[in-house]
Amino acid sequence: MVKNKKILIVGLANKYSIAAGIAESLYENGAKLGFSIQNERFEKFINEFSKNYDSDFTQICDLSNDIEIKDLIKKAVDKWGKIDGIVHSVGFAPADQLSGNIEECISREGFQIAHDISSYSFSGVIKEAYPHMSNNSSIITLTYIGSQQATPNYNVMGMAKASLEASVRYFSSTLGEKGVRVNSISAGPIKTLAASGIKGFKSMLNKHGANTPLARNITAREVGNTATFLLSDMSSGITGQTIYVDGGYNIQSMDFD
Ligand SMILES: NC(=O)c1ccc[n+]([C@@H]2O[C@H](COP(=O)([O-])OP(=O)(O)OC[C@H]3O[C@@H](n4cnc5c(N)ncnc54)[C@H](O)[C@@H]3O)[C@@H](O)[C@H]2O)c1
Repeated sequence: MVKNKKILIVGLANKYSIAAGIAESLYENGAKLGFSIQNERFEKFINEFSKNYDSDFTQICDLSNDIEIKDLIKKAVDKWGKIDGIVHSVGFAPADQLSGNIEECISREGFQIAHDISSYSFSGVIKEAYPHMSNNSSIITLTYIGSQQATPNYNVMGMAKASLEASVRYFSSTLGEKGVRVNSISAGPIKTLAASGIKGFKSMLNKHGANTPLARNITAREVGNTATFLLSDMSSGITGQTIYVDGGYNIQSMDFD
């Protein structure tokens, strides 16, 4: 589906990352992958990981830094010429923002960091990358239903995800004529490093799994398969969308006996 497409994956931390499930699916479907990691802490993992995926492109990029974003895209362009796809699988909010009632924990600094890393970083990457995207290219990001529904402890991340989903609509509306599609995947809960920062995540995971039409939680690989579809020409008519990969959780109303 994505044979020989050059796809940059931003946001791998370890084998549990959603980005790892996406990389697995893209690789099995023939993509040529490059990776960006936040800092040196993830270097040992990525060196092993990229070997398994025949990748010879890894770049450190802290997305809070515009110069590092510029450098990331420049290195990708030097390596590949045109970029066929980008996966943005990044989110962060300080731990104190993800615990308790929002009125008690929200702060200006926490709000700014969450929005900077979890939303603006997507805009920052696209701003640098779009002139170098091939015709019929595709960009995706990862979101969560906490953008639409108040979710305990998710707090400021829900606001940042709402901003991220709006960014998908804005960029898709102007990049379409340049041959670039932009979409997001709203994933159900998956146990990852970032998710573990949300207070009560284990309970969220259990309740979610017990209350979806599919009667189970979803896997990073299932998200990866949808990502492969969105990055492939099979989805050529789709842009500006949020596609739910959540076992159908989002279509339900309240639960009662
Ligand atoms: N795990 C879930 O339940 C779930 C559900 C829906 C959406 N998501 C979203 O999926 C995406 C990936 O998260 P994940 O769950 O795989 O967790 P993860 O911890 O594996 O990935 C988060 C990534 O963000 C990166 N990151 C954070 N700050 C950064 C910075 N300043 N510069 C560069 N990179 C930075 C981390 O290094 C890490 O690789 C996030 O957007 C998350 O909100 C996760």
